[in-house]
Amino acid sequence: MTCTAWEQERDWATIRPFVYYQLENFVAGDLVAGRDVVDFSAGLGDLSEYVATLGPKSLTATAHHPEVERPERLPDDAAWVAGVGAQDITERLAPDSADLILARMVIQFPTMEHDTVDVDDILSQMSTVLRPGGTVVVSTHAYFDLPGGDTVADDLDGYLLETREEAARLVESDDPIVRRIGEDTLGRVDLVRYLGLPPREGPFGATGFGLKVPMLLQSFFRSGYRVDLVEDLEPFTYPYHLGDRSGDAINALGAEFMERKRQAFTSPEYQDAYRRPAVLRRVLEDLRSLTAVTCVPIVRVVATRPVEGFNEG
Ligand SMILES: C[S@@+](CC[C@H](N)C(=O)[O-])C[C@H]1O[C@@H](n2cnc3c(N)ncnc32)[C@H](O)[C@@H]1O
Repeated sequence: MTCTAWEQERDWATIRPFVYYQLENFVAGDLVAGRDVVDFSAGLGDLSEYVATLGPKSLTATAHHPEVERPERLPDDAAWVAGVGAQDITERLAPDSADLILARMVIQFPTMEHDTVDVDDILSQMSTVLRPGGTVVVSTHAYFDLPGGDTVADDLDGYLLETREEAARLVESDDPIVRRIGEDTLGRVDLVRYLGLPPREGPFGATGFGLKVPMLLQSFFRSGYRVDLVEDLEPFTYPYHLGDRSGDAINALGAEFMERKRQAFTSPEYQDAYRRPAVLRRVLEDLRSLTAVTCVPIVRVVATRPVEGFNEG
């Protein structure tokens, strides 16, 4: 079988620095130090590279397809296991073998890969791989919709094309609010087509994308986890119009995005949930002064596999 990795098909190395930060704000050092850690669907290996600096006891990075090559950025002493699809987690990773599983921007994708597995199944398999008392940290696109998705789309490509055409008409409007809705919608359609994000049914039966947070939490509860934290992490900032910049200029701009986000997300102000929205608004204004981005929410959940008997009574 020949297949190309998700990352190669999308030139992810170029786009990834634009869309999210998710390093210090994704996993804290005290969860990692001295623990057996799995980075599930590790992508380019940049999260593993960071986690290795936090002193894990061991680090294992995985990829979906068996043919995917070990990422260059993966530290030498990290184990590499390719061929861990969302439905094969418990087949490829031993039960009770990990203290911490990281799944950064992964669990919203599997339904598009013709796997029958969905979020409940992924979380319950991860619970089997975790030792009692072990932790899972996930982040995902939180549900967002597109104007015009009043019914669940059977023909996704047709629906996206039609929505894009309608949005292009709005962009021509004299009304700045209508123009803004048009531009945001164009950006969202391009984001969905770029990522290959599978459609999800919205709370009122319309077509949208990303996971609905109440359903996501239900999935954690059904799989027996104790949910420790749920938060709006940062906006997913998709650069829908990079203009005619060269490859080098785009890479430099991506590095600038990462640096500006690092400064904001490691600031003491950002650690305070009540002050965070103002930080995020400023970051967004700042990034938009560099290039056009559309943004959708990212949610992060931290949950623990309870130690048996610990929570009883
Ligand atoms: C947005 S990328 C995130 C990659 C990496 N975790 C990161 O943050 O850079 C989405 C990842 O989900 C993986 N993925 C999609 N469907 C999957 C499936 N059925 N099983 C396992 N991984 C899957 C893709 O291979 C890709 O690596």
